[in-house]
Amino acid sequence: MSLLSIVDAQVRFGGVRAVDGVTISLERGNVHGLVGPNGSGKTTLVNAISGFARLHDGSVTLNDEQISGMRPDQIFTRGISRTFQSIRLLSTLTVRENILIGTDRARAEGDGRGAGKLLPRDAVNDRVDHAVALLGLEKFAGDFPSQLPYGLQRRVEIARSVASRPELILLDEPFAGMSRAERDELSDVLIEIADDGFTLLVIEHDMRIIHKICSHLFVMNFGRCIAEGSPRETAELEIVQEAYLGKQHGTA
Ligand SMILES: Nc1ncnc2c1ncn2[C@@H]1O[C@H](COP(=O)(O)OP(=O)(O)OP(=O)(O)O)[C@@H](O)[C@H]1O
Ligand SMILES: [Mg+2]
Repeated sequence: MSLLSIVDAQVRFGGVRAVDGVTISLERGNVHGLVGPNGSGKTTLVNAISGFARLHDGSVTLNDEQISGMRPDQIFTRGISRTFQSIRLLSTLTVRENILIGTDRARAEGDGRGAGKLLPRDAVNDRVDHAVALLGLEKFAGDFPSQLPYGLQRRVEIARSVASRPELILLDEPFAGMSRAERDELSDVLIEIADDGFTLLVIEHDMRIIHKICSHLFVMNFGRCIAEGSPRETAELEIVQEAYLGKQHGTA
């Protein structure tokens, strides 16, 4: 059974079909890449999975439970956590406190029946410590986000996601605005997060990063998933090169 199944998902904004009949599945433990030209519907698909956009048709199921139609907080307590294309950290809280927020009402370990309940303090501290260590933020735990360079702020966001111990983490362009060195470091961290047992869906434009971290790739264009498979075989398809790679030539 797939971890997440999306069947014929449709999201419209007026006359725009932002997501236009997408059917895909995410498998447990994989790092999935989601690529496509600007405006092709990647963020809207992530919004539809996480409850931030309403489906006009189709369904999303997590572990065989239908989650489409639920509120974002209900979907979060069932084990899906996300970051946003623009960083959203609370500036008056320290790095550690920002990460702590991820544990609030998070899914309890086990069968999920504890979802929505407060966790015991020890469990909260363990989760935060683990997330801080996994993202390499030990030295910055007492700092405020604004004191950190952009790349580290991104890591705090991802740590907040990890701290909720989700089954699935959705990352919307986590590498955006990073230097090449920061990108290389973060890609190593994402591989570690996957090794730790998390399933990831990562939106990213840089095919070098996609090839490095993803085992499965989805390509979107005009709201549709036009191809999927291993990054290598998918990137070679003519339909993909026409839609996406051709456009990127000389800019990567
Ligand atoms: N809230 C909204 N209201 C109206 N139209 C929207 C809204 N959100 C997205 N769209 C439109 O839906 C389409 C898909 O947008 P989306 O942001 O999902 O694309 P994307 O693939 O994430 O693009 P990018 O690579 O630029 O982030 C675009 O045509 C966009 O203008
Ligand atoms: Mg987007």
